Amino acid sequence: MCSIIGYKGQLNAAPLLVNSLKQMEYRGYDSVGIAVINNGKVIVKKGVGNVSNITDKFDLSTMPGHAGIGHTRWATHGQVTEENAHPHYGCTNNIAIVHNGVIENHHELRDELISLGHRFKSDTDSEVIAHLLEGYYTKKDIKTTTIETCRKLNGAYAFVAAFEDGRICGSRCDQPLIIGMLEGGYFISSDVLGFLKHTDRAIFLHNRDIAIIDSNALQLYDFEGNAVNRETTQVAWEVSSLDKGKYAFHTLKEIHEQPTVVEKTGIKNLGKIEEFCNILEDPRTVYITASGTSYHCALIAKYLLSSLAKIHCETIVSSEFPYILESIDDSSVLLAISQSGETADVLEAARAAKQIGSKILSIVNVPTSSLARMSDSFLEIECGPEVGVAATKSFTAQLSLIYAIVDRMCNYGLGFQANRKFLAEASREVLDQESKIQIIADKLRQARDIYVLGRSIHYPIALEGALKIKELSYIHAEGIVAGELKHGPLALIDKNTYVVIINPDDRTHCDNVVSAREIKTRGATIIGISNKPDEAYDILLKLPSIGNSILYPIIEVLPLQILAYYLALIRNIDPDYPRNLAKSVTVK
Ligand code: AGP
Repeated sequence: MCSIIGYKGQLNAAPLLVNSLKQMEYRGYDSVGIAVINNGKVIVKKGVGNVSNITDKFDLSTMPGHAGIGHTRWATHGQVTEENAHPHYGCTNNIAIVHNGVIENHHELRDELISLGHRFKSDTDSEVIAHLLEGYYTKKDIKTTTIETCRKLNGAYAFVAAFEDGRICGSRCDQPLIIGMLEGGYFISSDVLGFLKHTDRAIFLHNRDIAIIDSNALQLYDFEGNAVNRETTQVAWEVSSLDKGKYAFHTLKEIHEQPTVVEKTGIKNLGKIEEFCNILEDPRTVYITASGTSYHCALIAKYLLSSLAKIHCETIVSSEFPYILESIDDSSVLLAISQSGETADVLEAARAAKQIGSKILSIVNVPTSSLARMSDSFLEIECGPEVGVAATKSFTAQLSLIYAIVDRMCNYGLGFQANRKFLAEASREVLDQESKIQIIADKLRQARDIYVLGRSIHYPIALEGALKIKELSYIHAEGIVAGELKHGPLALIDKNTYVVIINPDDRTHCDNVVSAREIKTRGATIIGISNKPDEAYDILLKLPSIGNSILYPIIEVLPLQILAYYLALIRNIDPDYPRNLAKSVTVK
């Protein structure tokens, strides 16, 4: 996904746009550009690199003008080049656009526009928007121009355009676009973080809305041209939560926020948890869907709901959801888990299930996200904005909420509610091993492969640990069901291999020790994550003992997050912005 921003008001636009892009850089960061409107001219400066590099290279912050647009890119169509960076002009430089999403019919539109004499400068799908606006803008009627342009576009998109006469307009279709309301001006942004430093008053545009910002007025229309009213929302997030504070990177700060997350998540929502449980208890089958890290939480949710709350659950990774629709019906409930609430595969799954008549429940971090707004009931994980692209605190918050829900369904027999403080303290104890884990990371810096093993409820944590190592250090890592080792993966093990085994003292412990010894005989280096030492481990990352072992996933993921973080640092990789990734994948 990309980040888009626009501003029009009394202040100089350029420094505001640059700062907004800095706040949203986690959405995509391979190239950057802004356009400002000044004296009837639309001036564009853009290049390949992150916000700081391009701002310095082109002195973006000093560009003149009280209106402008900006963009950070996560390439989907067209290489990472200066030509393909946004903003894009049409044939003339009267209009420039920035876009997030995918225009699915861009090939046909491009051919059509070329046959009308338009010349394209980039390989992007986005540039067609600029040429379409230009084609319809003959009468300087910005409303009709935008409506006609949107009618031509297929796909999920949000775009903002800057016009030579100083006006700005934007539109959205299945991609987020939000107005930030200031004294004497307006922002239009793909994310509240784009303007949270200036205002917490926002208007979340509905799908197929058009916004026009002219002098000091905001006009909203639907795609039929009817004026629409949209409510103003006060954004709950604190701007201070965007600050890294004493930490070098957002990812490390967010890792250290997790004890508080365990203590607090869900506490404010006990009433809504009640409603959630009633809906969950009802259906024949609950389908749990998510992507990436959230999917690993879905696997733990299934384990807990089916084994403790006796709810029949199926987990489906969201990108596979379209292929299992036949098994869903109007008596099913879909539980969708998503930090951002904007992941395209998750939204598509929810839309498809809703169409069939299923009830939609969701667990999100962004209460104003598209997923929350299309759900019959949603719960917030309340861990504050997560800036690091690799999910850490949001995962622990999702887990904490799932434990709180299942605890409620088991009349608090699970002991999560009662043990929040103890678990938070246990998390702090694990985080105190940070420097020890840093030393281990140094040993593993040249590792070619790292395997993470776990059984039962610990297997999804093995998957999550492997994902963090891949995302942050670019080292090949794999989560493996420990019991499957002898059925193939053992062939991968030799003296150059590193194996992490998640092995708290529960009913999986003995079998895991056997696996560890089998691996040891092949010469691999074994790192044990456990509350119980064993001679099979070359290194032990000690976990505090927890009475009810089913709660271990809450703390046993922490050493893996820290290991991945330090592997990134030691390999000179920016842990906040891993290559080729984006915080929320809003394109399929
Ligand atoms: C996790 O570290 C990644 N950022 C990614 O796998 C992420 O979990 C996935 O894209 C799902 O995002 P969501 O929770 O916002 O839907």
